[in-house]
Amino acid sequence: MCGIVGYVGYREATDLLLEGLFRLEYRGYDSAGVAVLNGGEISVRKKAGRVHELAKLVDANPVHGCLGIGHTRWATHGETTDINSHPHVGGNGEVVLVHNGVIENYTSLRTFLQEHGFVFRTATDSEVIAHLISYHFTEQTEQGGDPKNSATAIKAVEATLKRLKGTYGLGIIFQEFPKMLIGARAGSPLVVGIGQGEYFLASDASPLVGYTEEVVYLSDHEMAILSPDSFELLHRDSGALSPSIQTIDQVAADVDLGDFEHYMLKEIFEQPQTIENAMRGRFDEDEATAKFGGLNLDPQQLRRIDRVVLTACGTSWHAGLVGEYLLEEFARIPTEVEYASELRYRNPPLTDNTMVFAITQSGETADTLAAMRECKRKGHPTLAICNVVGSTIAREADGGIYLHAGPEIGVASTKAFTSQVTVLTLLALYLGRMRHLSYPAGQRLIHQLKSMPEIIRKSLDCFETVKNVAQKYSEFSNFLYLGRLHNFPVALEGALKLKEISYIHAEGYPAAEMKHGPIALVDEVTPSVFVIPRGGIHPKVISNMEEVKARRGPVIAIACEGDTKVDNLADDIIRVPDVEEYLQPLVTAIPLQLLAYQIAVVRGCNVDRPRNLAKSVTVE
Ligand code: M6R
Repeated sequence: MCGIVGYVGYREATDLLLEGLFRLEYRGYDSAGVAVLNGGEISVRKKAGRVHELAKLVDANPVHGCLGIGHTRWATHGETTDINSHPHVGGNGEVVLVHNGVIENYTSLRTFLQEHGFVFRTATDSEVIAHLISYHFTEQTEQGGDPKNSATAIKAVEATLKRLKGTYGLGIIFQEFPKMLIGARAGSPLVVGIGQGEYFLASDASPLVGYTEEVVYLSDHEMAILSPDSFELLHRDSGALSPSIQTIDQVAADVDLGDFEHYMLKEIFEQPQTIENAMRGRFDEDEATAKFGGLNLDPQQLRRIDRVVLTACGTSWHAGLVGEYLLEEFARIPTEVEYASELRYRNPPLTDNTMVFAITQSGETADTLAAMRECKRKGHPTLAICNVVGSTIAREADGGIYLHAGPEIGVASTKAFTSQVTVLTLLALYLGRMRHLSYPAGQRLIHQLKSMPEIIRKSLDCFETVKNVAQKYSEFSNFLYLGRLHNFPVALEGALKLKEISYIHAEGYPAAEMKHGPIALVDEVTPSVFVIPRGGIHPKVISNMEEVKARRGPVIAIACEGDTKVDNLADDIIRVPDVEEYLQPLVTAIPLQLLAYQIAVVRGCNVDRPRNLAKSVTVE
């Protein structure tokens, strides 16, 4: 949800800002802009559209200077026009800023500022911040502050931040202060990169890779005052702080597309490796269990757990549903999966020994963060299953498990899903072995898990078949995705993938639930994608398939190699390797990811940057 980048130092800021914006573009791609202090004046270039449009604009009309800020936007308030793009100018141009977040009280602030003579040029909530800083800067000078002293500007920013309700990550520069870059955070991520004679500011560490290895992640209500040779960290309530410097996660550098046409395809094909990464070093073969370095709970605490709550959004929520099946099956711990957006405002009765897991790829999803904080506030151990190292959720959780999947750039989540499912399987094994799961059962599960990377590699062989199926069905407007037990969440995930990147309406259902309503949708032009690998429930799903065929609905089956029962029923069959039921989601997710991808390609959709979406949803 919007990417921010800032620079103060000795290099040409524009080049760095543009490079940073390209790396942050996954956060939003409605518009982009930069502001650079150019010979005593702040020059702004901004444009609706992707970062390469901005790059063309800057090429035609360059700006030079060593202090600047940049922004790539996911629109919340105001249409995606040039004028609504960031950066925004305050007052008469004395202050310029970029903002990620939502200002909830912007209407009343706007009225207040209009009453004080400020003229608004945009329909955004962000512009109020720029004008408010300008208002408070004047106020400070009227109260005796020196307009040539940067302390006056800092006080104006502090006074402004106190009046904002909502979330923000801000990059701010002043015309009067050519060596000062201010960053401020409440609810939206911000990281400072420490260089030699230079400092960087960004929404995440990706723009900093290659420039510095030392970073400081800002916490809420912190403000960074940066100049080429100084870094001051201030907290709203406690004043000056000493920054805690961390080393950047260099894996974040791996954003190269290689020979792939899209990031989504690259990430789908990375899954044999990412699943292996999720398991690396996490088996204790002597004890036939899993091991984790960062749960930060002792075995006694873990044994006392009588309930697990998994909270997440979107794809991560689907992974949580698979986790529920696995935790209840192997560890016999009652498990619930809650939409984070609901949990944050609900007040469900949680037992003293409830353990809460936030599942998130980005570690920045606003709803998941809020739900986690709410549970933490009530005293529950809150842990995270997270991909992005150093993200807000990873830092605020009491402990957790990293996915180690590497950067996921495609907006449609793929490899994060299978890594989350892998980690949840390990967690079920670990908690299971503390309870009812026998030594041989633990050994068997470890053995099966170890073979998964190779099995996933084989699952990817369906690529060409999926291509043909996609050609055949790409013009259909409605799809049903049906699966049972462990494959019900996979059906939900398959439908979500198709919706997100192809803009085709798709519904996921438990296959047997279909007869309670969705079957009314079945006709010759509504294909049903059945996720029907082998297992105890297979004959039941065959019956569900018969029901669809009886109503002349086209059937696409995701079935195991050698399963002849589907041959006469399905119009098209995509084969996957046969694995135990509890491991099937890892395998059956692959053809559904590929199907959504191929259909989107055939329809000419923007696979990696689907309309209206952003990779990390940092607004409510
Ligand atoms: O980063 P998170 O895992 O917290 O993100 C949650 C959802 O926003 C995310 O899974 C979203 O649904 C994806 N676009 C799905 O492909």
